[in-house]
Amino acid sequence: MEPPEMINAGELVLKRWELEWAPAAVEAIQESLPELRQFLPWATDTYGLEESREYIARSRADWDAGTQYNYAIFTAIGELAGSIGLMTRMGPGVLEIGYWTRTPYAGRGFMTAAVRALTRVALTLPGIERVAIKHDEANKASGAVAIKAGFAEAAREDREVEAPGESGTTIIRIYPSVDSSPPATA
Ligand SMILES: CC(C)(COP(=O)(O)OP(=O)(O)OC[C@H]1O[C@@H](n2cnc3c(N)ncnc32)[C@H](O)[C@@H]1OP(=O)(O)O)[C@@H](O)C(=O)NCCC(=O)NCCS
Repeated sequence: MEPPEMINAGELVLKRWELEWAPAAVEAIQESLPELRQFLPWATDTYGLEESREYIARSRADWDAGTQYNYAIFTAIGELAGSIGLMTRMGPGVLEIGYWTRTPYAGRGFMTAAVRALTRVALTLPGIERVAIKHDEANKASGAVAIKAGFAEAAREDREVEAPGESGTTIIRIYPSVDSSPPATA
């Protein structure tokens, strides 16, 4: 079973990526480069229509293959505000969330709302027991999103630095947390 192609998240809507949104994605990414390039190695000055179309085509193929479910995030008036996705790369039972916000829309709680909505959906999928967010220790905004959405730190790992803002220490946060007790029954 796959997640729905459209998810409501308060004033936002998450929609499976469509090829026709490539120009809007390029515009969003280009105007957000100073923030994105710190932590996302693919976010470079040369990111253009070809890269965007390739990303969306791959996203659509991955969706069909059941390996990744990537969504564009739109505001209530149809502005592209970012991207979020579910990845199966951590193995069975877990879906990992990745995301970026278009800079003019940052700091409004948008990504926290999107993460909460996508986490809720992920946990309804058969066999999925946990959702994970991995971020570099230096990526305070990403950590803040995960914490606000209820993700608890589960592990840290060292890895090669790939983007200029990274420290090389990855924090893995999960929801629900391993030691969380089942909800009390009345
Ligand atoms: C991480 C990111 C997606 C957050 O998006 P957003 O829409 O601004 O997220 P929200 O508004 O829901 O929450 C952001 C939180 O980060 C906090 N924050 C932002 N910069 C911060 C910093 N330098 N130090 C500490 N907290 C910071 C904000 O204060 C806010 O928390 P608050 O509501 O408690 O004040 C966005 O910054 C981004 O796209 N960054 C670049 C790409 C990236 O790093 N992606 C994630 C890779 S793991």
